[in-house]
Amino acid sequence: MCGIIGYSGNLEAGPVILSGLKQLEYRGYDSAGMALLTESNELYLVKKVGRVAALEKEIDPSILSHCGIGHTRWATHGGVTDTNAHPHCAGKVVLLHNGIIENYHTLQKQFGFAQTAVSQTDTEVAAQLIDYYYNRCKNPQQAICRAVDLLEGSYAFCILFTDVPGKVFCIRSVSPLVAASCEQGCFVASDLTALIAYTNRYFVLPEHTLLCLDRTGMTLTDLQGNPVDPDYLEVSWNIESAQKGGYPHYMLKEIYEQPEAFNRTVTPRIRNGLPDFSEEKIPDSLLQSFDKIRIVACGTALYAGMIGRSLLERKGKIPVEVSIASEFRYDPPVIDDKTLVLIISQSGETIDSLAALRLAKQLGATVISVINVKGSSIARESDYVIYTHAGPEISVASTKAYMVQISVLYLLAARIFLARGILTPEEVRTFIGNLGNAEKSISSVLEQRAEQIRHLAEKLAHCAHAFYIGRGMDYAFSMEGALKLKEITYIHAEAYAAGELKHGTISLIEEGIPVVAIATQDSIFNKTISNVREVKARGAFVILITKEGVHAAEDFCDIQIEIPQVDDFFTVFPIAVVLQLLAYYTAYAKGYDMDKPRNLAKSVTVE
Ligand code: G6P
Repeated sequence: MCGIIGYSGNLEAGPVILSGLKQLEYRGYDSAGMALLTESNELYLVKKVGRVAALEKEIDPSILSHCGIGHTRWATHGGVTDTNAHPHCAGKVVLLHNGIIENYHTLQKQFGFAQTAVSQTDTEVAAQLIDYYYNRCKNPQQAICRAVDLLEGSYAFCILFTDVPGKVFCIRSVSPLVAASCEQGCFVASDLTALIAYTNRYFVLPEHTLLCLDRTGMTLTDLQGNPVDPDYLEVSWNIESAQKGGYPHYMLKEIYEQPEAFNRTVTPRIRNGLPDFSEEKIPDSLLQSFDKIRIVACGTALYAGMIGRSLLERKGKIPVEVSIASEFRYDPPVIDDKTLVLIISQSGETIDSLAALRLAKQLGATVISVINVKGSSIARESDYVIYTHAGPEISVASTKAYMVQISVLYLLAARIFLARGILTPEEVRTFIGNLGNAEKSISSVLEQRAEQIRHLAEKLAHCAHAFYIGRGMDYAFSMEGALKLKEITYIHAEAYAAGELKHGTISLIEEGIPVVAIATQDSIFNKTISNVREVKARGAFVILITKEGVHAAEDFCDIQIEIPQVDDFFTVFPIAVVLQLLAYYTAYAKGYDMDKPRNLAKSVTVE
């Protein structure tokens, strides 16, 4: 949610910031802006509604500068206008922001800032406040510290002072910032994708510390001015991993990266055929001692959690509840020190998941998080972290992250079954053997079904509504399938438990309405098929997804998509690919930019 970048160094700052913004654009793309301190120590500021490409057209390439900041916005306060785009200026202060200043209105009144404000944003007040203190103390660090002391909410700021050449000041609370220093200069950004072209060694800016980038190096201090040693991290991926690699869209690339991502995540965690979390230092005693599990997540990660629940409850008879992170705090949750809380998040920065984690810990629960981004806030605050190794996921619609989240949940569930004696080591080995084979079923859908799905998607592209139905685990898959379709094609899609349809929703079924029916669970196959017949009888256009070898009669389906014959617990892996491809090719047929769907952002760092 909003991407920010700051740079000071030997390179031309304009192109560095612009290319960083292109990498960060998936975080928000309503408008973009850039501020440079020029060689002649003047401020060059440009901001524009639209994508980074629109900003690029406005930039004067003759401006020479080695220091600047850039922003790509996902609007929260104030409409999408050039004026509301960042950076914001107040006196000598030029500032950009990711987050929300919750008490901006109070501060505006308290300091009388409303008269001079030019935008409708919460951010401008932060610039005004820093300028207010800067005018009094003439010291950038002190001015920033005094101002942030009054702010409530979340923020990551990059700040220039027009009379302090060559320096970018940065500070954050909750909202993410990572920093790196290398031969080409010093960088700060919302995430590593903007820096990976220069270095893979970075650190997460600790909250409430002040970072100052300079052409020659950077300094990190606490708010009293004492030096702080950053904890450096390294990632193994490179700039190519964050580019399209010949695919027309990130989403398609990421769909096709799934077999590899699956292997990277699963293989190192299997020892002697058994799941192993010794790297993560998760003790079996923890897995033996809890009474119940609470899974908390948002969006696609939430639907991954639902698959985890089915497995843990059906195979392990372990009570599991799944909560939407934004509801978790307000429910309020009945958890204690006998509850194991699993937080699932690709970014590790989703604000509601982070808040849920903090509450869970306050209530005494132990938290294991399943995270893709190394060093992210949720990872750092969890008792234990299991990293997924999807590599960078750039497309807003999550695909490979979902796949690896599920595979981690399967590994963890298997370790729990083993530790609690629910399954014998031999039974766990068989389960893990099946999990290892999931990679083949993912690849087989990619190789054998993509064409069929592409043709089908051309039909789906003309529909205004679609329904996804299934029972049991098939219902959990349906939810993710419907989400994928609606988020990138803007087709209204709903997932329904197949048996529940007749309690209301079947009234919406009429001639030609597409119904994606998922029937991959052998034990309830016939039950689902009865529901399929009910919608077919009312004119639905039925796309039936089954295991191979199931003969689907024409009277209950229009198109059948087959996935490989795998055990019921493992159909999720090939099914996920079918549903992702269906959404992707439908968006493609409609000519939409599925990597950056309207109104959405990859990382939701505001409530
Ligand atoms: C946003 C993204 C989704 C993602 C969800 C949760 O809505 O568009 O793709 O599933 O956030 O994000 P997280 O990073 O916590 O997995």
